[in-house]
Amino acid sequence: MENEPARMSSPVGARATVNGRTVDYFCGTSYFGLHGHPQVIAAARDALATYGVGTATAAWSPAHADVVEETARYLGTEAVTYVASGYLAPLVLLQALSDDYDLAFADAASHYGILDALRAVGKDVVLFRHLDPDDLARRLALGIHGGKRPLVVTDGVFPSTGSLAPLRAYVDALARYPNGLLCIDDAHALGVIGETGRGSVEYHGIDATGVYVCGTLSKAFGGAGGIVPGNEALAARVRRASRVPSGASLPSVPDAAASAMGLRILSLHPEMRQALWTNVRLVRDGLRTLGFDLADTPIPIVSLRGRRSINLLRVQEALARRDILVHHAPPHGYSDSPSVETLRVAVFSTHTPEQLDRLIDAVRRAV
Ligand SMILES: Cc1ncc(COP(=O)(O)O)c(C=O)c1O
Repeated sequence: MENEPARMSSPVGARATVNGRTVDYFCGTSYFGLHGHPQVIAAARDALATYGVGTATAAWSPAHADVVEETARYLGTEAVTYVASGYLAPLVLLQALSDDYDLAFADAASHYGILDALRAVGKDVVLFRHLDPDDLARRLALGIHGGKRPLVVTDGVFPSTGSLAPLRAYVDALARYPNGLLCIDDAHALGVIGETGRGSVEYHGIDATGVYVCGTLSKAFGGAGGIVPGNEALAARVRRASRVPSGASLPSVPDAAASAMGLRILSLHPEMRQALWTNVRLVRDGLRTLGFDLADTPIPIVSLRGRRSINLLRVQEALARRDILVHHAPPHGYSDSPSVETLRVAVFSTHTPEQLDRLIDAVRRAV
């Protein structure tokens, strides 16, 4: 059936079984393959056997307490709020901060979760041009006067193209305004970038008052659930200002246990991040030799744009015939997809050199 999602009948990983075939899998967001890691699966299974599926809102299981502690330890924060999904995390954060800003400025290609959150909070929103600090500065100058307080919000890493938001330039643009806030949906950066995997703030060196982060455990960390890290005061504000923690069930017990184990594995094995960066470099360098214009970043989302002579849908199909899966995004197919078609190649730390060679070779033959 057209548009039916692919059926994955193995754990997710660099090699997976999709629609009955064994494939080299370059899709999705499990950048370390942790969702299919034996220890993650075992942790989820053990917690399920011990605590059942979940606590049905009124209480927390030890698995939920554990994931909060592990997340706070991983990110080096005093507190973490754990909520139903990463999609809801920007809502929770913006609700907690809603008394501290008057006008929001959002990257025009922000993730749907950010845009829905802004709408729900209900304050005025100005969209600035995607990834453009000069446009942000212009719009701040036009919109902020008479003591108004700005809040800038953006993805840290954009999900479809892998672009990095120029956060240092946003901080500089905000510096002219007292009490300006910067909120980052770091779903694709946490666990991946920064010296110790703490995401965009660490990567750009912008750990400062007024900089806030939210994210998810459903991508690099191999689990599920939204997170809002910060200090105890922020966690208390979340409890006061947001109805999400009391109104939406937590992720299930196996989700929490899987997430906690994923966090533990990543913090015990920094070499996994090194392996990811090595693979990212190999894929970016290899595809560059085929004429694709690719930024030199450590982001495991590699986005190929069509050239006039290349039909990317045909390229994706040619790769699929060789059992290599990449994602084809039509123009404007996702929050940050550009106005032209793209192929999204997701690189995992667990892809082998042979898989990467096969990928590059298959793209070379197809273009
Ligand atoms: C930038 C961004 N934020 C939030 C989310 C939602 O996270 P979750 O799927 O864990 O709800 C996604 C999901 O793809 C995302 O790409």
